[in-house]
Amino acid sequence: MTDFIAVPFYDLFQENGHVPKIREKLPALLTGVTRSILEIGAGTGLITTSLADCTPAEVFALEPSAGMRAVLLSRLAERPELLERVTVLPYDALSLDLAEPVEAMVMINVMYALEPDYRKRMWPVLAERLEPGGLLAFTWSPGGAPEPRPLQELESRRVGRHTYRVSSEITSSEAEAFTARHLYQVVEGDTVIAEEEIVGSAYRPLRETIEAELTGAGFVQAEAPEGMLGWRLG
Ligand SMILES: C[S@@+](CC[C@H](N)C(=O)[O-])C[C@H]1O[C@@H](n2cnc3c(N)ncnc32)[C@H](O)[C@@H]1O
Repeated sequence: MTDFIAVPFYDLFQENGHVPKIREKLPALLTGVTRSILEIGAGTGLITTSLADCTPAEVFALEPSAGMRAVLLSRLAERPELLERVTVLPYDALSLDLAEPVEAMVMINVMYALEPDYRKRMWPVLAERLEPGGLLAFTWSPGGAPEPRPLQELESRRVGRHTYRVSSEITSSEAEAFTARHLYQVVEGDTVIAEEEIVGSAYRPLRETIEAELTGAGFVQAEAPEGMLGWRLG
């Protein structure tokens, strides 16, 4: 599994992106969850701390990238009371290993990273480690893969005398998969002083694909807030 190269940029932009919207939805989504939650792809912990704040549950934060985990653990270290209740699992979803099944699983902005065959193998692994009737909820963008488009700036943020800038281009697109090129730049005045390019595949499965996969793994569709899908283990 490759590391998440854009780690230094991550929190700068995500606090203004999906994170506040997801945080608003969590209390209603997790009503009644009191014992245990698994977060798949916890990243730098922007959602992890909210999961712990809005429920009394024990949280298992699974994150394969060492860079992302470093920020996650730094965030937890600033909240010593959370170190009592949050366990960081340093591996990917298919390696999931828990002493007992959890009550709920949450996966925020991770689907794009899961190659279809990997994703299909993941649902039964999750089903095996979820309590009967337990909730599996994840963010959802309908409509399949986006069309190709040229490089465009997504966001920039001032950090002292520098600007951190992220641009992206979609170079090819099929029904459920696309190739994206991301450019991460640190700029001083007109000069780019650091630059990293990431080109990789991303996935946006169709609704019917996901429904077939999850139904096949024993899940039944449940209520979820807008922008998310919810499933319960039948
Ligand atoms: C865009 S980040 C989202 C992080 C966090 N959920 C959030 O919303 O801020 C995607 C995360 O998924 C993780 N990831 C990628 N593939 C994964 C896999 N197979 N199993 C678990 N996590 C994975 C990446 O390392 C990355 O931290």
